[in-house]
Amino acid sequence: DIKGFIFDLDGVITLTSKYHGQAWHQLADELGVTWTKALADGLKGISRMDSLEMILKAGNKENDYTEEEKIRFAAKKNDNYLTLIGKMTDEDILPGIPAFLKDLAAHNYKICLASASKNSPIILEKLDLVKYFPIVVDPSKLKKGKPDPEIYVRGAELLHLKPEECIGIEDAAAGIQAINGAGETSIGIGDATELSAADIRFARTTDMTLVNIEAAMKINA
Ligand code: G6P
Ligand code: MG
Repeated sequence: DIKGFIFDLDGVITLTSKYHGQAWHQLADELGVTWTKALADGLKGISRMDSLEMILKAGNKENDYTEEEKIRFAAKKNDNYLTLIGKMTDEDILPGIPAFLKDLAAHNYKICLASASKNSPIILEKLDLVKYFPIVVDPSKLKKGKPDPEIYVRGAELLHLKPEECIGIEDAAAGIQAINGAGETSIGIGDATELSAADIRFARTTDMTLVNIEAAMKINA
């Protein structure tokens, strides 16, 4: 039986995914790396330093910079990102998410956040969602980022649940791979081709309801 839900943040709860993309795009331009849809999609869910490495690799520049320079690039991207999210409020929560969270709480499901973002605590504050997420996996304590399952394994541990009792929710292929690798049920929100590995997929957040999830799980069973 499903007892808990483990949420990704960027692209699931709010469209900060767009701002991450914009800030990386700007850095890629400055580094002379061609920005493509494949690169943008591949970066979703990937940690800050791993994202920078992917961008440098895409431009065959992975050996061109020192560790200090790379840290400066990542810090610059984060400064841009923080400017972009500066004006966010609870109106930036994706439609259907507040109702879904309320429904989960009403049915006593356990909930936690498994975002790779070190900015997720401030975003939860801005969105006024801290009350729903007292439990947040700390990405700085993990050895490996998504697509490694570690963050979803840790999420289940923090909820005191077995992986098979958990559903993970993601907008990115790397995240779905992490959920599946952890032995949890995966929900993908977004594009069917990008999220083909998801156990259940919804085109948009408003489709993600307990009724629709239960129906999808029956079909899959
Ligand atoms: C999430 C986002 C990624 C981002 C990562 C690290 O997984 O989907 O786009 O790179 O978090 O975020 P941070 O805010 O710590 O740079
Ligand atoms: Mg995401």
